[in-house]
Amino acid sequence: MEGKRFVAFLLGLSFALYLSVGVAHEDAALESLPETDDENINTQTYIVWVNKPVQKFLFSKSHQDLESWYHTFLPTTISSSNKMVNPRMVHVYRNVATGFAAKLTPEEVKAMEKKEGFVSAHPERILPLHTTHSPNFLGLNQGLGVWKGANYGKGVIIGVLDTGITPDHPSFSDEGMPPPPAKWKGKCDFNGTLCNNKLIGARNFQGGKSTGAPPVDDEGHGTHTSSTAGGNFVKGVSVFGQAYGTASGMAPYAHVAMYKVCGEEGCSESNILAAMDTAVEDGVDVLSLSLGGPSFPFYADGIAIGAFGAIQKGIFVSCSAGNSGPFYGSLSNEAPWILTVGASTIDRSIRAVAKLGNGGEYNGESLFQPKDFGSELLPMVYAGANGKESSRFCSSGSLENVEGAIVVCERGGGIGRIDKGSEVKRAGGAAMILVNAVTDGDSTLADPHVLPATHVGYAAGVRIKAYLNSTSSPAATILFKGTIIGDKLAPKITSFSSRGPNMESPGILKPDIVGPGVSILAAWPISVDNATDSNATFNMISGKPIVDETLKPADIFATGAGHVNPYKANDPGLIYDTKPADYIPYLCGLNYTNEQIQVITQQTVNCSEVESIPEAQLNYPSFSIIVGSSDESKSQYYTRTVKNVGSANSTYKLDLNVPRQMGMSVNPEVLTFTEVNQEITFHVEFLAEDGAGKDGVPFAQGYLRWVSDKHSVSSPISVIFDTGSDGK
Ligand SMILES: *[C@@H]1O[C@H](CO)[C@@H](O)[C@H](O)[C@H]1NC(C)=O
Ligand SMILES: *[C@@H]1O[C@H](CO)[C@@H](O)[C@H](O)[C@H]1NC(C)=O
Ligand SMILES: *[C@@H]1O[C@H](CO)[C@@H](O)[C@H](O)[C@H]1NC(C)=O
Ligand SMILES: *[C@@H]1O[C@H](CO)[C@@H](O)[C@H](O)[C@H]1NC(C)=O
Ligand SMILES: *[C@@H]1O[C@H](CO)[C@@H](O)[C@H](O)[C@H]1NC(C)=O
Ligand SMILES: *[C@@H]1O[C@H](CO)[C@@H](O)[C@H](O)[C@H]1NC(C)=O
Ligand SMILES: *[C@@H]1O[C@H](CO)[C@@H](O)[C@H](O)[C@H]1NC(C)=O
Repeated sequence: MEGKRFVAFLLGLSFALYLSVGVAHEDAALESLPETDDENINTQTYIVWVNKPVQKFLFSKSHQDLESWYHTFLPTTISSSNKMVNPRMVHVYRNVATGFAAKLTPEEVKAMEKKEGFVSAHPERILPLHTTHSPNFLGLNQGLGVWKGANYGKGVIIGVLDTGITPDHPSFSDEGMPPPPAKWKGKCDFNGTLCNNKLIGARNFQGGKSTGAPPVDDEGHGTHTSSTAGGNFVKGVSVFGQAYGTASGMAPYAHVAMYKVCGEEGCSESNILAAMDTAVEDGVDVLSLSLGGPSFPFYADGIAIGAFGAIQKGIFVSCSAGNSGPFYGSLSNEAPWILTVGASTIDRSIRAVAKLGNGGEYNGESLFQPKDFGSELLPMVYAGANGKESSRFCSSGSLENVEGAIVVCERGGGIGRIDKGSEVKRAGGAAMILVNAVTDGDSTLADPHVLPATHVGYAAGVRIKAYLNSTSSPAATILFKGTIIGDKLAPKITSFSSRGPNMESPGILKPDIVGPGVSILAAWPISVDNATDSNATFNMISGKPIVDETLKPADIFATGAGHVNPYKANDPGLIYDTKPADYIPYLCGLNYTNEQIQVITQQTVNCSEVESIPEAQLNYPSFSIIVGSSDESKSQYYTRTVKNVGSANSTYKLDLNVPRQMGMSVNPEVLTFTEVNQEITFHVEFLAEDGAGKDGVPFAQGYLRWVSDKHSVSSPISVIFDTGSDGK
């Protein structure tokens, strides 16, 4: 497998760090209004899609021509004066989309709709951030074969869209790094020497156009995701002495370019698209985005549109699935041309054991592991004992009479986990036991708490509270055990990882894969343990759940094809190849209009002349089948084409795991290849049993696997029984 593709595969290892979901239009409307005659009008940033310019605007195909064309759509009062400095124009898109972002009123957009060449417009959205994970659990130890084979990402340029970067962090040292490939045309907006052969580009799209201001990471998230993706080796890294080891990114010798598109308020869609547009022109090989909003039609989804433009130029786009789980249908980034990655836990925990007066011990986690915390029992109190809701969650100012006690706080209530500890500390508490709500299940996090603390799962919390009730003098302590590698239950799906099914395109299974995304050790701009002797500061961060819902067992809508296995991904044997043009029959099959498809593909499409396909017929490495009540939907027939990228003479045999209440037949059942890059098409028929789905269980799952001496190529199958509809 090509280095680029391999690196891309590793990159989607994402989980969601929820910051804030602003309401796009409201936020935009609050920004300073342009200095125009009509400055007191209420504008917001719209993304406007138009047709390619007509001939008279295309004298030389120069950027100016394109800009002139876009300016003709702006209201005449302002576009007439000086076109190129029109304050209404926020971004012009040249590479990944045909359109622009501008500050407009709804009335101006209405007027624009009448202009020839206008396609559609929507107010931009503000999307929340997500984030990524570390390589060791994935078998990527330094010097091990797979990384060598993929050359540690050497020569690959990873464009990261995030909150900015801390350039002098040792993860971005360019020791051992060659200069970027000659095709690189990007810029570094940091002062002087801060960019190097590792960090080759740094731009800031916040506040409108690429401003030239340095993309400083005030938040920490971007530094973390970039070092996770392409950080160099840094030996002897730890946080509070925990998780000690050599830190590095997934592709330590790849080049990194940061495009700052997010701030504390989230990430603006028009800026994201502008950054993707620029990154493509700069020459990145891979785009990595740990952000995204809820399900949108692909023609109205800035990331989906930008990603399509990118894949047309051969760039791989990897995005996080989001953190709105465990709800079904809670995914971000559902388009099939994006690698969508859900979050699972890794096999490392930074253990802190809650030990009770009755001898009970419950494993929990804390990154802060004080060495001087005694093992003698302390009086224990339940924060909510006074019956107040705010006290239960240890919200600021809510606690009293807890001096010297170990305080049990409930997770949630909109209060940060570390903030709960701060409140306990403020009120004079000695330590904290943070217990999960039922919806959080057993997902715990190793946080840099401000006092001795442990975060335990729901089941442990119930027992701890039962013990509290059972005695008049409850007591407990915390035993700090340090870093424990090898959690037997890992990987587990974290409660907050977003779940399928795919709402916009139910015939495509998402997420594609899952990757570890909890308690990741990677670069962080400041020292969290107040270390003064080193600038090599690292922190563990994880997603924060935004919605607490019933934890469901991990199923195919949580895991997709399963846990990322980079060792195997480097040598897959067979691939399911999909070219940009293959998506056109698929988009027609989604019943999008020609104009909507044109927004995505930037080319004229006439679906009447295209043989459209059902979604599940796209040459995707998984199957998502919807069985309705019609006879037609009970029997469904698809083909797939696999390409041999293993040794020339390879034979693969079929291994089927047929979903419950379904029948399947596959033809042929043996694939015999005699050449490298040879393609073979196989046929798959799905047949629903009579009464399938009537038992009240709406989903079924299975897999189709091609097995040779050396490889096992597995495609997950999900079935949705939608008996209330015709299905398809
Ligand atoms: C760049 O560095 C110079 C000298 O240290 C300083 O005066 C200037 O303000 C810096 N510019 C930016 C954008 O940080
Ligand atoms: C503890 O006692 C309170 C008050 O009687 C009760 O509401 C609560 O459910 C009990 N908790 C457990 C875990 O038994
Ligand atoms: C780090 O220092 C700050 C400021 O002095 C203090 O508030 C904080 O509690 C310290 N953190 C730790 C983990 O010691
Ligand atoms: C950390 O960085 C600062 C400023 O970049 C520098 O002055 C200081 O010497 C560095 N400290 C160490 C221990 O490298
Ligand atoms: C598209 O429209 C056709 C004809 O009305 C219908 O059969 C099909 O189910 C629709 N597809 C989708 C994805 O809605
Ligand atoms: C699309 O193709 C159909 C069938 O060939 C034709 O009738 C129609 O005019 C075409 N539409 C456009 C917009 O070209
Ligand atoms: C594949 O098999 C054919 C026929 O058995 C043989 O002629 C050919 O040399 C083999 N190719 C390789 C690369 O082993």
